[in-house]
Amino acid sequence: MSSTADAGPVLQVQNLRLVLYTEKEELFPVDGISFTIDPGETLCLVGESGSGKSLTALTIMRLIELEASVRYEGSVIFAQRDVLTLSQREMNSLRGSEVAMVPQEPMSALNPVLKIGRQLEQVGIYHVKDRKGRRQVRQEFHERAREALVAVGIRDVDRVLLSYPHQLSGGMQQRVLIAMAVIAEPKLIIADEPTTALDVTTQAQILVLLAELQKRTGVGLLLITHDLAVAAQVADRVAVMYAGKIVEQAPVEEFFANPQHPYSVGLLRSVPSIDDGKSHDRLNAISGSVPSLSALPRGCRFAPRCVLAIDQCQSERPDLSVVDSANAHLVACWRPGEMS
Ligand SMILES: Nc1ncnc2c1ncn2[C@@H]1O[C@H](COP(=O)(O)OP(=O)(O)OP(=O)(O)O)[C@@H](O)[C@H]1O
Ligand SMILES: [Mg+2]
Repeated sequence: MSSTADAGPVLQVQNLRLVLYTEKEELFPVDGISFTIDPGETLCLVGESGSGKSLTALTIMRLIELEASVRYEGSVIFAQRDVLTLSQREMNSLRGSEVAMVPQEPMSALNPVLKIGRQLEQVGIYHVKDRKGRRQVRQEFHERAREALVAVGIRDVDRVLLSYPHQLSGGMQQRVLIAMAVIAEPKLIIADEPTTALDVTTQAQILVLLAELQKRTGVGLLLITHDLAVAAQVADRVAVMYAGKIVEQAPVEEFFANPQHPYSVGLLRSVPSIDDGKSHDRLNAISGSVPSLSALPRGCRFAPRCVLAIDQCQSERPDLSVVDSANAHLVACWRPGEMS
């Protein structure tokens, strides 16, 4: 733990907007979102497929390709700097050393023809913070890599270091990727559906592992998931994204006890209940689908699917605003709380 821990948030996203230019039009897949993450805090960003979660992560990491056809608005303040104004070179040095990403598909993020040991070594050499010679770094690496692998719960470290990715299970690959993410002791980890490709047991182990690492190191975690059960398990705060906007944000207990947005309520009702034994999960799922980016409703973007929608919802867009200041609960809805 750093002795000079800053009091402020580790990440501050303000009115972030991602504009994509296509041949015909401008699209706003991330459209004016704001949130912060404190040191040691886990914010879960949840929402259906296509709501803009991954693009939010990629924007913060500045990993969106085709820069020429992309524009950013707003700010992403990290380590007192707005990452949206950094050059790719400056961003490269931030990425991995200060902010790291754990991807959804472990296999696609690992190099299939390099042994795990070599891949960890490359990360180590690239991101070691102090400016020492590479030879020295290489010597240090063995220790660091071992520590990182042990920290992510790998017992047979020697075997893993000498393995190719395909020789490891999906859970092991994801552990390796988390080790790669933490090896440089970043201040923020962004994990985009890090457990989706894994079976339920392994998923739980990986989540516990992330939570433990976080408690120990004080790293901030932005965890993207479409799975509310995951959010319930690990989040400190939950932000619900719909069609490029955050529609609700609250501390985790408050969110699950007192959801205010009809979309959140719909999401919660579509979670399969463990104790009822039958699969009622689809019965209550929200009907319809996330609107196309090129045909967004004028008012509230959820209005076409919302059973509570009134005229105002069709014509006026609600802003994200405080419904309960004592509980830091924000919602963007003209009829908050009426569905719960
Ligand atoms: N390069 C791109 N060009 C144009 N549109 C894109 C591009 N990438 C994503 N989109 C669109 O932006 C929207 C948000 O996509 P995004 O991948 O962020 O969703 P998501 O919430 O991560 O979904 P999922 O849960 O399926 O991962 C979608 O409508 C998607 O089709
Ligand atoms: Mg995604």
